[in-house]
Amino acid sequence: MSPWSWFLLPTLCLLPTSAAPQRGALASANCELKPQQSELNSFLWTIKRDPPSYFFGTIHVPYTRVWDFVPDNSKEAFQQSGVVYFELDLTNPYTISALARCQMLPPGENLQDVLPRDIYCRLKRHLEYVKLMMPSWMTADQRGKGLYADYLFNAIVGNWERKRPIWIMLMVNSLTEVVVKSRGVPVLDLYLAQEAERLRKQTGAMEKVEEQCHPLNGLNFSQVIFALNQTLLQQESLRAGRLQIPYTTEDLIKHYNCGDLSSVIFSHDSSQVPNFINATLPPQERVTAQEIDSYFRQELLYKRNERMGKRVKALLEEFPDKGFFFAFGAGHFMGNNTVLDVLRREGYEALPMNTVTF
Ligand SMILES: *[C@@H]1O[C@H](CO)[C@@H](O)[C@H](O)[C@H]1NC(C)=O
Ligand SMILES: *[C@@H]1O[C@H](CO)[C@@H](O)[C@H](O)[C@H]1NC(C)=O
Ligand SMILES: *[C@@H]1O[C@H](CO)[C@@H](O)[C@H](O)[C@H]1NC(C)=O
Ligand SMILES: *[C@@H]1O[C@H](CO)[C@@H](O)[C@H](O)[C@H]1NC(C)=O
Repeated sequence: MSPWSWFLLPTLCLLPTSAAPQRGALASANCELKPQQSELNSFLWTIKRDPPSYFFGTIHVPYTRVWDFVPDNSKEAFQQSGVVYFELDLTNPYTISALARCQMLPPGENLQDVLPRDIYCRLKRHLEYVKLMMPSWMTADQRGKGLYADYLFNAIVGNWERKRPIWIMLMVNSLTEVVVKSRGVPVLDLYLAQEAERLRKQTGAMEKVEEQCHPLNGLNFSQVIFALNQTLLQQESLRAGRLQIPYTTEDLIKHYNCGDLSSVIFSHDSSQVPNFINATLPPQERVTAQEIDSYFRQELLYKRNERMGKRVKALLEEFPDKGFFFAFGAGHFMGNNTVLDVLRREGYEALPMNTVTF
């Protein structure tokens, strides 16, 4: 699912969060290599100090799909920490409106003037298809919560002609049956933010909206058109029945629930951009896909890791008596140039916690 969906549809985040975990989630995570929950890795790291502070890696999927698999040590670390920091303050209406503003084309411009005609017409056709399908995609549970297809469609798609093409690409990517069915349940990081508020913890945001949003707007025109074209092609194949529903979200959930700390799958969730690198692409297009991938890795992971790591250090030093819990996208802790690397470079000891060493 699109990681941005929590904010493409902010009002839904306010629905009651009491949804029971899906039945399937209560069964075992079905991890081939490490069948015991106690042998799984947790996405938890500790910074040695007194009181200790923690880093916790989240993913952007409905929390009901993963919460039962989050090990007890991570839940305890959250409970114990007095101060919880997120990438952004998702519960603040200002955050939501600033993100909405950041998606807009400059005043006076419309998507129709910006996009190649072929792409614009295919986009329009696709949105008409989604509008038609939406009622059949929704679940009885969603309808029971008072969610209506028209409302949902307008909340996600409304004002689309005024949005920048990169945001249209992310929107189209999130307009699938699987994603629509999961609307109304908060994603894991939003759930933690709501819990922190409910438990009256002090909360904060590591970044400004613009720091997340501007790098997305910085992709150049031909790259954006490529990304939008690929996204539309994929949706058109799905519509025509030529492509199986891609299991990206299911894969992500499985790796997370199995405690599989491999960086690749999480980097796309945390950089918030889908993977366009596809083995069947012609060579020139594969080059473009690689360029987009490294642009986002640099701008949405490495640069932000550096900035967030330095801000974490500043907080730890300014408030030595406080126990912090930093909940960021899991991809910020895996691969190269992670937030943890920044802190280690600054002299801190940041250790992974497995489920039995709490
Ligand atoms: C966009 O960026 C790519 C990679 O840096 C470059 O090859 C291409 O010429 C740029 N296109 C435009 C329209 O600026
Ligand atoms: C979209 O992608 C297809 C397949 O790669 C290509 O043939 C077509 O020219 C592209 N369209 C645009 C407008 O870039
Ligand atoms: C890979 O790219 C080709 C050509 O653009 C496209 O037809 C196909 O649907 C893509 N596959 C996936 C899984 O996106
Ligand atoms: C990390 O850096 C190494 C060395 O520069 C490189 O070979 C590797 O591909 C990088 N990994 C990722 C996930 O970018």
